[in-house]
Amino acid sequence: MTTTEPDLMHSTAFVDGIPHEYFRDLRDREGLARGDNHEGDQFWYIVKHADVVAASRDTQLFSSYPTTMTRFREVTSKLRDISFIDPPDHTRMRRLALKAFTPTRIAGLEEPVGRVVDQVWAQARELGEFDLATEVSLEVPVRALAELIGIPQSDRPYAYEWAKRTVNRSHPDYTQDTQQTDEMFREMFEYLKDLTEHRRRTEPGEGLIGVLLSTPVRDMLLTTEEIAQFTMTMLGGSESTYSALTGAVLALLDNPEQLAILRKDPTQIPTAVQEVLRWVTPVTHFARRVTEDTVVNGQEIKADELVALWFSSANYDERVFTDPLKFDVTRHPNPHITFGGGGPHVCIGRLLAMMELRHLIQHVVAEPGIALGGPAVWAHTNFTNSIRSLPVSLH
Ligand code: HEM
Repeated sequence: MTTTEPDLMHSTAFVDGIPHEYFRDLRDREGLARGDNHEGDQFWYIVKHADVVAASRDTQLFSSYPTTMTRFREVTSKLRDISFIDPPDHTRMRRLALKAFTPTRIAGLEEPVGRVVDQVWAQARELGEFDLATEVSLEVPVRALAELIGIPQSDRPYAYEWAKRTVNRSHPDYTQDTQQTDEMFREMFEYLKDLTEHRRRTEPGEGLIGVLLSTPVRDMLLTTEEIAQFTMTMLGGSESTYSALTGAVLALLDNPEQLAILRKDPTQIPTAVQEVLRWVTPVTHFARRVTEDTVVNGQEIKADELVALWFSSANYDERVFTDPLKFDVTRHPNPHITFGGGGPHVCIGRLLAMMELRHLIQHVVAEPGIALGGPAVWAHTNFTNSIRSLPVSLH
């Protein structure tokens, strides 16, 4: 590796945004590059759109367990997160999860999510100049998730604080004390267990917890622990949406001619949401473990070796996207794989995330004086393409 090549497994790999040149170079190479995560785990880098899609869809060959990503998740209980199990266990959990994410249930969130975004925007607006990352992007996803989960109003400030503290965890400004982080996860897990138990004894209620309590899977109801664990995973979804929201505003303010297109024709906003998702690619990669010897892009990979599926590269693959480095709010079709490459693990919260983005972009489009108030500062993490500070003014 030459000195100009970023170390993709290092927390600073994305501090200047997506390392496009390096990814393009990797896509054009024979075979696959390989890097290690400084804990001794080595990953083959899968970077082409077609290869990421194929690996995502073949859960038998590309297993979700165990990967290094499972480590920090196993703090709260012995139960495994939906992201890190394979079929058939995954199929059971996923089927259940989908009950809480039916198009009708998600459509029912349109009004409360719109209200959440309106309220958060109105509060930020009063400041005139504000940090969009902390004042808006940190607030919206956790509030939307509280609506989805059905957290009681009185407990929401606590849940908001908890969820916000989990965002940008790996940045040096945030706690590096793993004991403290583990404690925080346990606290929230206990809270969700108590809430689930309470609902079980009283009224299940309308939100996600209510659905999980009253939906049998193969005639069996989920345990309190399983529900609490699943709800924790949902709350974890706030970090990727946080990255998407801030990235959306930066993309629009950096490309005023594209913002002008939306001002002229706001019916283009849903198409723009897809381009924002491609452009930002909030989740940079997911890992898989190969179960049998195989070959990807001419590269031999041995059973039990790890691969990283780089969505950040696949979404800029010239073989699929014309002029990929152009932010084009009218791009259509837009086969980005921001929510995964289409396998059984594809993101379950995608409709909710898109809804939040749509509402936020509507506000940005309706602000004639909106402008960047300073440079964007990226967080130190190679898992999300995450801006931790974006000064914005509305004068
Ligand atoms: C823009 C925001 C979001 C992005 C970019 C994103 C991205 C992703 C990606 C890349 C995956 C892995 C796909 C794979 O391995 O093939 C995933 C899985 C998942 N996401 Fe999201 N996500 C977002 C928002 C959310 C939200 C809001 C929720 C919860 C309401 C959520 C819940 C989940 C769950 C539960 C999984 C695991 C699904 C499974 O393994 O079956 N995500 N997401």
